[in-house]
Amino acid sequence: MHTVQKKSNSEPRPDLVSVADLSGPMETGLTSRTRTLFSDLGQTADAMGCALYVVGGWPRDLLLNRPNFDVDVVVEGDGVAFAEAFVSKKGGRVVRHERFQTAMIVLENGCKVDVVSARQECYHRPGALPTVQPGGIEQDLYRRDFTINSMAIQLNAAGYGRLVDLFGGRRDLEQKTLRVLHERSFVEDPTRMMRAVRFEQRFGFRMERTTEQLLRHAAADQMLERVSSERIREELILLLREEHPYKPLLRLDELGVLRALHPGLRTDGDRKNLFARIGEALSWFGQRHPDDVVDRWMLFFLGLMDALEVKEKSAFAEKWRMPRKVRELVREIGHFVEVVVSLTEARIHPSRIYRLLNPIKTESVLFLMARSTEKSVKQRIALYLDRLRKVSIELSGRDLSDMGIPPGPIFRTILDGVLEAKIDGKVGSKAEEWAWAGKMWRALGEP
Ligand code: CTP
Repeated sequence: MHTVQKKSNSEPRPDLVSVADLSGPMETGLTSRTRTLFSDLGQTADAMGCALYVVGGWPRDLLLNRPNFDVDVVVEGDGVAFAEAFVSKKGGRVVRHERFQTAMIVLENGCKVDVVSARQECYHRPGALPTVQPGGIEQDLYRRDFTINSMAIQLNAAGYGRLVDLFGGRRDLEQKTLRVLHERSFVEDPTRMMRAVRFEQRFGFRMERTTEQLLRHAAADQMLERVSSERIREELILLLREEHPYKPLLRLDELGVLRALHPGLRTDGDRKNLFARIGEALSWFGQRHPDDVVDRWMLFFLGLMDALEVKEKSAFAEKWRMPRKVRELVREIGHFVEVVVSLTEARIHPSRIYRLLNPIKTESVLFLMARSTEKSVKQRIALYLDRLRKVSIELSGRDLSDMGIPPGPIFRTILDGVLEAKIDGKVGSKAEEWAWAGKMWRALGEP
């Protein structure tokens, strides 16, 4: 049990710059679930006597009128103790990260709230993870990346809806400008180069001149090399998760950052078309099969690597420590040429299409669809995705046993044979499947 010292710092502080009252939009623009959450969080903070703010992306998106379900809060006090006090009253559980004095509240409805203790960070060397010392909301906001991400809204009852905007974040939002807070921002955290481009392109903003110069310098000084592969991977994935990832990639290329990832990456017209076709394949698939989940960003990752040689692609995925699934996709698309050649054969049984595509993951199949320009290939892939992959048979291993077939690898061979016969329309009913299995069994040399 933590004992929390009662401090009276939850009162609105008149000394904070550019204070505006957002209690109106906080009342009307929120779902009832978020309103309840904010009120519960505020009550916990009031009971502990500490000031509490929602910070970062959430205030930014409120002002932009965009939905945001990620709630990050800053407590002027002990964030971990706050999280624990919250769940002891309202339920849920806490995931603690002692090293950074942060915690995550996982609510019973599955929502998550990241809790940070207002702090000052020290970067021992550029690109390293910071160590943390306690501080106030001002220091916490000052350590952040861009003015638009450095605003806070108070959640305590007394100051509910009060916007703290120390660096002109609201003005920059209105002027569609992306601006760092200080000139060492990209040096202290080089992943911000990728973040800058991601936000700029997502919101249709423009980087302010000095910010762009600082970014170009950091890129030219190869600052990204000082960052761990894992952190770059996370930023790259976030970028590829954007709705239209080609735009930020093109901009990264223009700013000299893309070549730090790999000198062979291209954002030329061919790549632009490929990204557009990947987008089309994904939306076609999403409309027809809304319940099938695909990792969209992985297809764009394959698109990003498209200009590289097969071996370079595996090395690239390896270098950025991509998840195993990505490395498997890279291996699968290494055999594309053979698959495409087979799919262009003039006469082809549906079961052959099935045999070619069934061993590879849906992401690879969709990438193949986007990659091929041949109409017949696209149609055959569409046939597979829409129909063939869903065909199933009623016959089971138990039926084969009942037929007197001894269990063993032959079961798989026969069941696969029956499935292919069904795909080709040679069998329909269970009786026909049964008869087909018997025929195969005899042909395979029934003793
Ligand atoms: N932040 C930062 N520097 C980083 C990463 C994060 O200053 N390298 C700060 C920013 O204030 C940011 C907040 O932490 O707003 C939360 O980070 P994150 O969740 O990554 O970004 P969001 O702004 O919420 O963006 P998104 O909409 O993409 O989730």
